[in-house]
Amino acid sequence: MTEPLRIGVAGLGTVGAAVVRLLGRHAASLEARCGRPLVVTAVSARDRKRDRGVDLSGCEWFDDPVALAASPLCDVVVELVGGDEGPARATVETALAAGKHVVTANKALLAKHGAALAATAEAKGVGLFFEASVAGGIPIVKTLREALAGNAVSRISGILNGTCNYILSRMELEGLTFEACLADAQRLGYAEADPTFDVGGFDAAHKLALLTSLAFGTEIDADAIHVEGIASIAPLDLKMADELGFRIKLLGVAERTATGIEQRVHPTMVPKTSAIAQVMGVTNAVSIHADAVGELTLVGPGAGGDATASSVLSDLADLGRGVRIAPFGLPVAALAKAERAPMQRHEGGYYVRLSVLDRPGAAASIATRMAERAISLESIVQRRAPGTPWEATGRAAGPVPVVLLTYATTEAAIRAALDAVMADGHIAEPPQLIRIERP
Ligand code: HSE
Repeated sequence: MTEPLRIGVAGLGTVGAAVVRLLGRHAASLEARCGRPLVVTAVSARDRKRDRGVDLSGCEWFDDPVALAASPLCDVVVELVGGDEGPARATVETALAAGKHVVTANKALLAKHGAALAATAEAKGVGLFFEASVAGGIPIVKTLREALAGNAVSRISGILNGTCNYILSRMELEGLTFEACLADAQRLGYAEADPTFDVGGFDAAHKLALLTSLAFGTEIDADAIHVEGIASIAPLDLKMADELGFRIKLLGVAERTATGIEQRVHPTMVPKTSAIAQVMGVTNAVSIHADAVGELTLVGPGAGGDATASSVLSDLADLGRGVRIAPFGLPVAALAKAERAPMQRHEGGYYVRLSVLDRPGAAASIATRMAERAISLESIVQRRAPGTPWEATGRAAGPVPVVLLTYATTEAAIRAALDAVMADGHIAEPPQLIRIERP
């Protein structure tokens, strides 16, 4: 019989347990596909006693994942520990140094240390695979690294964080609070250990950094990403978006522009009729624009045990078959230095919500400030805030929401206009600004 591929699983949380379960369930078909059995020989987790609903009886147990990584019992280490330093980094570095393949779902680690880890893997002649690190069960890494090798990619964009999409969807459709939706996402196993990674946009940024490198053949440049999370999105923004024909999504976008590669993660207004607006709940979606294929969109589960484990098994099957490929599609030395496009040069339409002190001249001064920067307004909406008391004059006593939609302008222009609006003293709080994409 051909030698089995011996697998050590470091981390037995939702995904780790699902990996062990799926390897057992699909043992026969995986063996047939790879020409050798894929066998879990070692596992590592903190709590030995916890019932994870999987049979670990044939596996050697390690309390320390780094000891598992150094052990001669496995040929490949599946790192599901998490975190960009500490035990996760030590586990991956130890495994690679010991000449073992690594499969990881750890986007934070790769966004920070991916180049160095890929260089070690290259030097050692072993695989470093990370399909599970981006968009859960969607095979986006393989698509960019292998399937689109005959293309020049110009843009990649998508919903890369299931937790944020789940929260925004439920807030919009069920009128629930941000906190209640986040608690449900955590209970269902979608959120990161520290959910500020999700809602702050950092998890999506880590994923975008990897996709940008794969798409454009560039060095990972996570520090270049403009990141905004969803914590500032108010129920009123969701309501106004709905009235104006939009939905709000946390999008990650990387595109080649005249000034370099623009990378950004932020809440985005997308037309309700667009394909991306239909993507609700924990589902992720990634769209790629490339010269030969045109536009390609992959949609699927972005988080959850089985979906993420499916991607881990895809990598394990490749290793079982003997596939060896540069982690980012090119040898590390061949990755180009990414030229950063400054966010101030970003061009697009904007949704602006202002909390305006309702007095004569306020609207005129706001419109003037926009006109001074050649910003053209597509729509202006002023609503009387529900419950606002009225003065005898008939004007609102408190501030009223005013929503503007602009035609395409630059980030620098809209920021300068809003600074001037604030300085004029007609608004009661800092403006809400949401970029509009019309994919
Ligand atoms: N917390 C992530 C998400 C899980 O919500 O998308 C997978 O990366």
